[in-house]
Amino acid sequence: MPQQNEIPTIRGHWLTGVIKEFNADSLRFLEKATTYGDIVKLKFGPFNVHFINHPDLVHDVLVSNASRFHKSFVVKRSFKDVSGENLFTSDSEFWKRQRKLMQPAFHAKSIGAYADTMVDYALAEIENWSDNAEVDVDAAMTTVTMNIITKTMFDTEVGDETRAVGESFTRLLQIVNNRVGRIFDFPHWLPTSENREIHRLVDKLKAMIQGFIDERRASRDDKGDLLAMLLMAQDGDGSGMSDEQIINEMLTIFGAGHETTAYTLTFAWYALAQNPTVLEKLQQEVDTVLGNRRATLADLPNLPYSEMVIKETLRLYPPAWGFTRNAIAAVKIGDYALPKGAAVMMSPWTMGRDARWYPQPLDFNPERFSPENEATIPRYAFIPFGGGPRVCIGNQFAMMEARLILATIAQHYRFTLKPDFETEPIRAFTLRPSNGMKLIAHTREAIPVL
Ligand code: HEM
Repeated sequence: MPQQNEIPTIRGHWLTGVIKEFNADSLRFLEKATTYGDIVKLKFGPFNVHFINHPDLVHDVLVSNASRFHKSFVVKRSFKDVSGENLFTSDSEFWKRQRKLMQPAFHAKSIGAYADTMVDYALAEIENWSDNAEVDVDAAMTTVTMNIITKTMFDTEVGDETRAVGESFTRLLQIVNNRVGRIFDFPHWLPTSENREIHRLVDKLKAMIQGFIDERRASRDDKGDLLAMLLMAQDGDGSGMSDEQIINEMLTIFGAGHETTAYTLTFAWYALAQNPTVLEKLQQEVDTVLGNRRATLADLPNLPYSEMVIKETLRLYPPAWGFTRNAIAAVKIGDYALPKGAAVMMSPWTMGRDARWYPQPLDFNPERFSPENEATIPRYAFIPFGGGPRVCIGNQFAMMEARLILATIAQHYRFTLKPDFETEPIRAFTLRPSNGMKLIAHTREAIPVL
């Protein structure tokens, strides 16, 4: 066995490398890249990106050598003038302190209190639907998760003012998403129309969050929301976060914490519309456990199939379809030596569609995630929330939210596809449907919305 293995390379165009092909259809391009082996070097113009596609290599990057890898410069650059240094983009000591300060706000016992809010907003959205109506499922799921994150972050209802804020956030995310997709970008201090728009949106949002902080500091109210927890968070030496840092983290949580779950639910309904047996099993579980009463936190242990459906959706349609790192020192992963500065990319999309870990990978089959079957899947072949110390801090929040919304909707509605409707997953910052997700809603029976 050689000490160090050769890494195959996809060179593409002599000047631009694979940029054009990657941008044209990133998901298909990455699938093609996996045919070169478990690690392949992709030439993005002058930059090499090492694309890895094996659970052991993923483990080596995210866990064994976690401290030798930092978030990539593209991610840092894209967020810097939006949310500064924050939990998502920072590294080393700064990141460690933020993670320690923020972790308690995301513990199961802290977020359990949000379950009723999650069900409230799912039920409120359902009231807009009727039998045989066409529903924009992606827009509907985004409304529900945006209402939930706004309420759980700031204990505020989504009224006209917060709706405008939500729109500003959404627009901001769109622009940052465009930035993350670019290897080369204009400096952010240049007054391009995009940069000016970003700064206008950021100023507005920061002023709004500062208003919430001022109110809270003045009233000393503990409303039990995320803002209260971040305001109370203290280090071992009794120091907390500055207002500026809290604002940056709130912007980050809003950005990371609602679209991802909205698109998970969107694709779950898409898959269920195409798999009636799975839907039936989900409805049986929901009917047996809940009947026509509303779901609560205490029901979740009795709704295992809803968890299996969400996990299977995350496998086949992972919202975070890829993420990247840069090696801060020379490092060995598996039998491969990477130089200092090497960029590494991994993809929950390709890992989740690999027949080595998931036989008949294109079938939507939640049974893969029954306790017995899940135990046979290599841990780092299922990475929708990343892994290691940088694993998604909101993963329990997201799973609870997705399951409660799924179960609540499944009590009252099912969806079918329109015969002529076509949509497919494409990559933006998060994975989303190319053509939206217009499905036909059907009331199950006359179950009153309680
Ligand atoms: C289905 C929903 C979600 C998915 C698929 C998802 C996915 C991810 C992934 C893959 C990462 C790691 C990225 C990397 O290693 O480079 C991450 C990190 C993060 N996520 Fe999530 N996420 C979801 C929901 C949420 C929610 C609900 C929140 C907050 C309320 C959240 C907040 C964060 C934060 C702050 C980080 C950075 C953590 C750190 O680096 O310490 N996410 N997420």
